[in-house]
Amino acid sequence: MITVPEAAVPTPDAGRRAHLRQAATHVLFDNWTGAATVPSRALYPHQWSWDSAFIAIGLRHIAPRRAQRELETLLGAQWGDGRIPHIAFNPSVPLGAYFPSPDFWRSSTAGRNAGAPSTTQTSGIVQPPVHALAAWQVHLADPAESRRRGFLPRVYPRLAAWHRYLSTSRDLAGGSLAAVVHPWEPGLDNSPCWDEALARVEPAPRRSFRRADLDHSSAADRPTDLDYARYVRLATTYRDHAYDDARTPHAFAIEDPSFNALLIASEHALAAIARTVGADAGAHLRRAEATTAALIDRLWDPAGGIFLARDLVTGEPIAGHSVSGLVPLIIPGLPQDIASALAGTAHGPRFRLGQVHLVPSYDLTAKEFDANRYWRGPSWFNTAWLIHHGLVRHGEAGAAGRLRAQFLTAAYHSEFAEYLEPYTGEGRGIRRFSWTAALALDLLHACDEEDSAR
Ligand code: SER
Repeated sequence: MITVPEAAVPTPDAGRRAHLRQAATHVLFDNWTGAATVPSRALYPHQWSWDSAFIAIGLRHIAPRRAQRELETLLGAQWGDGRIPHIAFNPSVPLGAYFPSPDFWRSSTAGRNAGAPSTTQTSGIVQPPVHALAAWQVHLADPAESRRRGFLPRVYPRLAAWHRYLSTSRDLAGGSLAAVVHPWEPGLDNSPCWDEALARVEPAPRRSFRRADLDHSSAADRPTDLDYARYVRLATTYRDHAYDDARTPHAFAIEDPSFNALLIASEHALAAIARTVGADAGAHLRRAEATTAALIDRLWDPAGGIFLARDLVTGEPIAGHSVSGLVPLIIPGLPQDIASALAGTAHGPRFRLGQVHLVPSYDLTAKEFDANRYWRGPSWFNTAWLIHHGLVRHGEAGAAGRLRAQFLTAAYHSEFAEYLEPYTGEGRGIRRFSWTAALALDLLHACDEEDSAR
């Protein structure tokens, strides 16, 4: 087994950083379609919700106006009930290029009562709410251009409606946390954390759908056919209940720590946006505080030193330890004892921060851990970026700096891979993945700022 001694990964020097910046810029410009950025031309040829938010965070350093446009295009696909769909489909891409395609979701008909747009075709589920965080950072990158284009006043009501949807229609347990109703919604599709909940779901007949993902990625790196059969069943049931959260009999309903932590961080960002556009910032801050209290009350596991997802069908916490449980480190004002415990868990045997590549998506010591298969173990760049920021926020500058250096080195050597085998650092999934390039640009910018402050 190859591990990564901390001292072996120095921050890349200025020359290497310039090369990395150029390569990352190429990825983002090649994946730009004219109004938004695809995560990957082959595997994900449409606009994805949380991908676009991460992409905008990087794009702002090289093309701030394009970063604004990225978010505006996504918000153009928002539904009347406030939800931001997880995919906004590009009509010029053939139906067979991605599954499930628009004719599966049927958003403009099945989603009509929930206010789905009549022209843009979208999926009907959501992804983590990183958008207000992204919008605020995009604004800060070029406030003059943002003001000239009226960026914040235009996006603010849409972002507020999005958060309202999550904290009302998605508060399925009435405990002040947003629930996810499909494994694609928290973004950690095939995490072992969902195994038990998914086992309750009757798989759709295998011959009723054709996967397109395996045309572009190794089957060993992707969810299984049985996973897909259950994903299809859950999405079909939601669609057949008109994407109505109250009416759908949810076989899968989970309170996920990372999803809610991102909602809280975004609520803080929305307060900053509200202040700038002359709206009521206090309401957002109060909601951020209430959601933080609910997150600690309902999902914090002091014995494990990690946040655990809660299964709303059984009412019980889910025992598996995933990277999602570390992401609440990004929450401003998280109590220091919890932040310290999370940092300890990240460095402990389950995640081995500093000794393996980035942060594994699942507990290295668990029997379900799989070093190659999507969210069952591989390290992802977006969660590493979030945990890096959490470590910075809670005074763990040394660990944060080492994680940043690892991130940049791995992005470079893996050609902006989608994810990594955590022990070897080899790329998995597809290459030239947009959010890997975008978040590398963001961390490069931070390195440059530190250099010029010296
Ligand atoms: N992550 C899922 C996919 O692989 C859906 O967003 O297609």
